[in-house]
Amino acid sequence: MSLPNFSIVVTWALYFIPVYIFILSPLLQTFFGSSTTNSENVNIFDWTGEDTIPASNLRDDSFISPEDGVPITCPGEPAGYKVHLLSRAPLILYLENFLSDEEADHLVDISVDKYKPSIVYDGKTEQVDPSKRLSDRALLDRDDTVRCLEDRARAFQGWRPHLYIERMWAQRYNASGHYRHHYDWAGTLARGGDRLSTFMVYLGADCEGGGTNFPRLAMPPGKEWCRFLECEEDGAEAQIQAGDLDSDSDQNLGGIPKQKPGITFKPIKGNAIFWENLRSDGTGYPETWHAAYPVTSGTKVGLNIWSWYQPPMRARRG
Ligand SMILES: *[C@@H]1O[C@H](CO)[C@@H](O)[C@H](O)[C@H]1NC(C)=O
Repeated sequence: MSLPNFSIVVTWALYFIPVYIFILSPLLQTFFGSSTTNSENVNIFDWTGEDTIPASNLRDDSFISPEDGVPITCPGEPAGYKVHLLSRAPLILYLENFLSDEEADHLVDISVDKYKPSIVYDGKTEQVDPSKRLSDRALLDRDDTVRCLEDRARAFQGWRPHLYIERMWAQRYNASGHYRHHYDWAGTLARGGDRLSTFMVYLGADCEGGGTNFPRLAMPPGKEWCRFLECEEDGAEAQIQAGDLDSDSDQNLGGIPKQKPGITFKPIKGNAIFWENLRSDGTGYPETWHAAYPVTSGTKVGLNIWSWYQPPMRARRG
């Protein structure tokens, strides 16, 4: 009979617990990403389909749009766009007329015959799950307009080194189409790369509903924002949607329609929201938690322009 003595087990446990808390757990987080995001957040990370983050993805043109020196012409380029500051940390900017109508219409046209049901990725597998995300998405060919936009996105971010524009996806939401709250970042910078920033562009907004909600952001004071954000006076119709969407969260208490949390951007064709997902230390901003509220009628088409940040290993340690 060699069952270990009870007091030996207790002694080992007493040694192991601090070793785990102060040494093992931080090490595991450093190498395998943060476990502080709750599992639900990780569940619905908006991933494009790769299941690992190999360094080689920078050469994988199904994921990244390489800067291949193809000369760019920009048909229908807007003369300029207006930029409005919404938040400094995280950096959130609203871009008015980031795309011209001509560009937006063109991108809708080239996406039409490419749509497939959108998937959600839970860290292991990807699947279609209409309770979390109901939309179709299309990988856009890199024609002149798309390349022109890649260039605009790079220029907007000051041609930052080690920043790579991901291949662009159009997202189409029919009536009842939605995407539950999620992050665009994955907490994987320590493992190679992550999404530094997001441009959420509206290509088509012939719809009711379909606002982009950030529950953790506060309404900015200026009345002028009511052009782009849903305001109290826009009516109660929009307010009830929020409760309908997240019926499994704390937003729908006892069936009482609560006010929409945070701020909600109205879909406006050609306009874009730009935000940074990562702090300078590479960790993700919890304030960037966002959702596409259900479209109640018509169709919304969005475009994601994601910037993948992947510094060389050596630079990252410095
Ligand atoms: C959206 O509508 C299009 C056109 O009717 C249809 O082909 C597509 O399957 C619909 N997508 C979803 C997710 O309902």
